[in-house]
Amino acid sequence: MDAAAPKPRENQGEPLPRVDARLKVTGQAGYPADLPTANLAYGALATSSIAKGRVTKLHLDEARAVPGLLDIVTYGDMDRVDRPKFDNGSATSVGPLHDRTIFHDGQIIALAVAETFEAAEEAAQLIRAEYEEEKPTASFDSPGTKTVPAAGKSPMLKEDVKAGDFDAAYAAAPVKIDARYSTPTQHHNPIELFSTTALWQGDQLVVHEPSQNVTGWKVELARQLKLDPANVRILSPFIGGAFGSKGPMTPRTAIVAVAAKRLGRPVRCVTSRMQAFGTQTYRAETRHRIRIGAGRDGRITAFAHEGWEMTSRTDAYVVGGTSATGRMYDYGSVLTHVSLVEADRNTPGYMRSPPETPYVYALENAMDEMAVALGMDPVEFRRINEPKTEPIGKKPFSSRSLIQCYEQAADAFGWAKRDPKVGAMRDGDWLVGMGCATAIYPTAAAPCAARVRLTSDGEVRVQCGSHEIGTGVRTVAGQMASERLGVPIGKVNVEMGDSSLPPAPVSGGSISTASVCSAVLKACDAIRTKLAAAATNEGAPLAGSHNEELDFADGKIVAKGGASAKIEDVFKIMQVGAIDEYAEFTPKGATPGALKKLYAGLPEFHGGDQDEDSVKYAFGAEFVEVRINRHTREIQVPRIVGAFAAGRIMNTRTARSQLMGGMIWGIGQALHEATEVDRRYARYVNRDLQDYLVPVNADIKDLQVILVPEVDHAVNPAGVKGLGELGNVGTAAAVASAVYHATGKRIRDLPIRIDQLI
Ligand code: MOS
Repeated sequence: MDAAAPKPRENQGEPLPRVDARLKVTGQAGYPADLPTANLAYGALATSSIAKGRVTKLHLDEARAVPGLLDIVTYGDMDRVDRPKFDNGSATSVGPLHDRTIFHDGQIIALAVAETFEAAEEAAQLIRAEYEEEKPTASFDSPGTKTVPAAGKSPMLKEDVKAGDFDAAYAAAPVKIDARYSTPTQHHNPIELFSTTALWQGDQLVVHEPSQNVTGWKVELARQLKLDPANVRILSPFIGGAFGSKGPMTPRTAIVAVAAKRLGRPVRCVTSRMQAFGTQTYRAETRHRIRIGAGRDGRITAFAHEGWEMTSRTDAYVVGGTSATGRMYDYGSVLTHVSLVEADRNTPGYMRSPPETPYVYALENAMDEMAVALGMDPVEFRRINEPKTEPIGKKPFSSRSLIQCYEQAADAFGWAKRDPKVGAMRDGDWLVGMGCATAIYPTAAAPCAARVRLTSDGEVRVQCGSHEIGTGVRTVAGQMASERLGVPIGKVNVEMGDSSLPPAPVSGGSISTASVCSAVLKACDAIRTKLAAAATNEGAPLAGSHNEELDFADGKIVAKGGASAKIEDVFKIMQVGAIDEYAEFTPKGATPGALKKLYAGLPEFHGGDQDEDSVKYAFGAEFVEVRINRHTREIQVPRIVGAFAAGRIMNTRTARSQLMGGMIWGIGQALHEATEVDRRYARYVNRDLQDYLVPVNADIKDLQVILVPEVDHAVNPAGVKGLGELGNVGTAAAVASAVYHATGKRIRDLPIRIDQLI
């Protein structure tokens, strides 16, 4: 694997190591469940063993007899607490202890609290429930599902996008395909388990819990517990894997808070990996029908994408990737429709590139099929259908470097050496296949606040209630301050992951770098303005220079002609020891109430397909080589090259790391990951890392990330397009295309496993 961070090219920042790297690898980073806490009691969840029905009786005597048992929180104990509100920062609207209805397998039925973790576990396992059981509906094709249109049910899919007359264009097209694809349920398995630690200090509630949304959780938890949000503090300074799983709050948080209140002691509940499958969110199972029609010249004239997505009975979680797939190419006519299919399952939720990963998989696999049907090179096919404007609203792309991505990745990959004939490339016992696919992710930003303080000795403190979920945002926020204020990164300290800091939006949707850096930039520029004013006053060292002509570098303010003033001397002129600036960033198009919504924990997203002037997306092209053993059909991925363009790259090291991780996850989606559902009981079966497969080091060989230079001033002041979710979009389709190229078998249902290739 190419271990070096890419050398910065145009509009790309230095590959600085993460500011918190050492803390993480030396075990000094404080994850929420590791925090030493005095007088701590331990909670363990008891969960339902049926998926649908009612709890008629709970037997608690055996649990109560466990030595060290302190309390059991169950039905009746949450009566003074409001139910969670789905989409209000909460993962589900099910308040599991508010009534005895069971909506899904593994639903919380009680929390046992004890002096030790072991006693709590033992007690939880001794809680026995009697049920009135109904036959659950597990999944697609199970009797009893309900299908409803998805559009308008979530901000993630406002409408079923369309353009022109698909039916007529498709009927008239000389070359066409009509194919169905599917992606399985996938569950989050972060290394750090899900946990809540709740402490009360009088009326003040402090919660330590890994979270991507401390501001949103503070407000939503306060609402549930009927507290003033000012009395709730959520802390999540480090997170051991998030990717959407720690975006919405689950009902456990309020239950643990109630337990701590009743006991008058801090309570910590760490969910087991197995329980997380039923109590956290997961990626919804999806099905797709794609129709593409084209002329013999390869120009697409008709595109239809229909999607079906599993969700719960209680909440309309929408995946809805047609907004992106419907705008991907110059289709001529577009027809889309997304349906939700309700079953007796827990509510799904965000998982890295929630809409794009499944929907673009289907589109890009279909694009490869179409290239085959046309007898055309798949890269050339995409080039021919590159749009000038997006086909739905005919808006321009703020920037779109997809073809450059294809060119640079194809070059590095050696695409020219590919023999287009199926099954033609071999290496001993191995069938060799090569495939490619497009990655796309909407570029959004949300309102964000930040406070930056510069002291006379050149120390900088950046405070922002955003979250370091592994993306490197703590590092790049520090880089932004270091760059603007002209101090070395070692003098910058960045505080995040605390709801008492200036509010930031949920660290989801790849908006954090753009939103946080734009707020930090604004605060730093306010500091610069003050210093510049003092430095250019009459009699001051830079008198006569204009603010815009000044540079901040190496602890100095440097004027155009070369004259400079030490920042510490400017502080002396100002007679202050520190300059502290609080800034609020709002993206273009923000409503007048946008900041209020930020403080209320429900920030507006802007960008993507929403803006008037242009649509905003980051793009990439991924090339994959697969090798399939002639005898055993074992599938290997020896090589993968991805080229991505995402506006300003703040740090080529952290950017590469995100994109690389995304592509590795993409290989997992292509070949490994799937939650198996026992259809008789609507129950997840492979609820551990032994049976839930993810790629390991041995699965990942040569992996190259190319960062294609791109400048885009329209997206946000920082010029940054998010890329945290870009890398795993398209990977699975590239693998499927390579598998087809090697074997002639078109696999449309993920994951691709040996049994499909026999
Ligand atoms: Mo991401 S799945 O938007 O946290």
